[in-house]
Amino acid sequence: MIRLIAITRDVSPAIAACELTHLAREPIDLNRAKEQHRAYEKVLERLGCVIERLPADAQMPDAVFVEDTAIVFDEIAVITRPGAESRRSETPAVASALSRHRTLVHIEEPGTIDGGDVLVVGHVVFVGRTSRTNDAGLDQLRRALTPFGYSVVPASVRGCLHLKSAITALDDRTLLTNRRWIADQQFAGFELVDFGSSESMAANIVRVGSGLLYASSFPRTLEHLERRGYSVTTVDVSELAKAEGAVTCCSLIFAVER
Ligand code: GLY
Repeated sequence: MIRLIAITRDVSPAIAACELTHLAREPIDLNRAKEQHRAYEKVLERLGCVIERLPADAQMPDAVFVEDTAIVFDEIAVITRPGAESRRSETPAVASALSRHRTLVHIEEPGTIDGGDVLVVGHVVFVGRTSRTNDAGLDQLRRALTPFGYSVVPASVRGCLHLKSAITALDDRTLLTNRRWIADQQFAGFELVDFGSSESMAANIVRVGSGLLYASSFPRTLEHLERRGYSVTTVDVSELAKAEGAVTCCSLIFAVER
């Protein structure tokens, strides 16, 4: 029997001191952020996940964005070396949780990778070259994945924090995109959908089993997705978005056999 696990991490009491790259700092209501995070976990449960929640840490403002600390494949889990030095202490707790489910491979210095820069679609692994992910990290990831038949494809990104701020998968063939932040030709072989609206952060969506989890802040894009027949569950993550996080950032979702 296949079961879906979602690793999450509680919102840090220090989230107001999070890293910010493209956003101006705004006050974050901690209680509201925690409520939104719990609601996000509840949706994951409704979509079939068993939650493995790690505790918050007052020394790790960004740790709720657990996606950046690891990339989980069917065969292995890659523990990243996050591009922001302030985030490197986040990885041991995630590695410990993942070691119960997968063999681990670690990205080593001088490599850096944030999981937010890695978009896995079947056996194609797009890796955004950003301020958080460098070529040494990309090469280490490629070496780790080559034995398992994955192809690692570098992608340039401009104007946003991570590759997955600009593009995520709706299914195995279709990618939801903000074309202003990526170069189309890098994703040859996939259908790119960009609804061209004013909702610039709307390209981040997360697949959960056969469902899709999406932020409630993008009603126009949601309407387009539903018109195309996608089944989308929304959740309000507006407080977490002030910390430059999105729906993919708050979980590591993978299948296990039980
Ligand atoms: N605040 C999320 C990040 O910069 O990694």
